[in-house]
Amino acid sequence: MNIIVLGCNGQLGHCIQDLSMDYEQDHGFTFKFLNSKNGDVTDSRKLAQTLADFSTDVVINASAYTAVDKAESDAEVAYAVNAEGPKNIAKICSDLDIVFIHVSTDYVFDGNATMPYQPNATTAPQSVYGASKLAGEQAIQTLMNKFIIIRTAWVFSEYGNNFVKTMLRLGRERDEVEIVADQKGCPTYTGDLAAAILSIALEVQRGNSKWGVYHYCGNNETTWYEFANKIFKIGLTTECLLKQPVVKAISTEAFPTPAVRPKYSVMDNSKIIADWNVVECDWIKSLHNVISNMPRPNDS
Ligand SMILES: NC(=O)c1ccc[n+]([C@@H]2O[C@H](COP(=O)([O-])OP(=O)(O)OC[C@H]3O[C@@H](n4cnc5c(N)ncnc54)[C@H](OP(=O)(O)O)[C@@H]3O)[C@@H](O)[C@H]2O)c1
Repeated sequence: MNIIVLGCNGQLGHCIQDLSMDYEQDHGFTFKFLNSKNGDVTDSRKLAQTLADFSTDVVINASAYTAVDKAESDAEVAYAVNAEGPKNIAKICSDLDIVFIHVSTDYVFDGNATMPYQPNATTAPQSVYGASKLAGEQAIQTLMNKFIIIRTAWVFSEYGNNFVKTMLRLGRERDEVEIVADQKGCPTYTGDLAAAILSIALEVQRGNSKWGVYHYCGNNETTWYEFANKIFKIGLTTECLLKQPVVKAISTEAFPTPAVRPKYSVMDNSKIIADWNVVECDWIKSLHNVISNMPRPNDS
């Protein structure tokens, strides 16, 4: 099974790289990892050549324009990467009979629900980022059949920039932090998402063909405020932090941002577990592991 991973230097891409050797050894997978330079999703011609030359069986798209606030004033680039990119990949995958595993976001929803979103729930993005990601999803669904779109949320990892790393930095720098307490969602470790995606690729190799839209996020809902408290608590117990700042709960209105965030973006994972038998993300356990492996304050 020949697998191309696009956006290999992002949080998810890195985590897929970390797991790839096991799949090479145990299941005969061959990976090609491409970054934004040698696998630019906006360069359709070059991408088509690369996918054909590698006799690709599966494409995993971990690339995205993820600067949610910047996207509000940079819509052209956000749409090029998040909408045109997946559209290009879908066209090529359809022509070459390649399975396409694409990653999307909870920001395709408006956040007005009170029950976890199902994959077939009505979409209504409130931001340029969310709208550009939804346009990517729709292009894939229009152009091909053998696709798996996985919406995820509140992503964290040991790589890149994310909420966990920001909180640990603020915890070291400040005595008090103000965190939004009225938005609910499900933190997701990209290592768990990477494992789920590779186990899906293995199922594809075995003949599973339940194509469609899925949700994969952490197993329990929380707020940014509770998430921050959990990060500080684990930071202290693992000695990643030497002190815990006072955490003050604030409202979304008290922390204005260019992009509107969904107030409630909890997603239901049951379909992906039923159809693809993936292991759910126990985000508190994964958070503990990620923080335990982070540099200590006195590490040089
Ligand atoms: N982060 C979150 O909280 C979150 C939440 C929900 C869903 N998601 C989705 O989860 C997926 C993975 O997110 P992530 O956090 O791992 O993203 P990330 O860390 O921001 O990585 C995105 C990667 O995409 C690459 N990229 C940008 N433009 C590209 C292009 N034109 N061609 C090829 N690659 C390009 C970037 O490369 P350069 O570094 O070279 O620019 C970067 O390595 C994305 O689909 C994202 O929308 C993320």
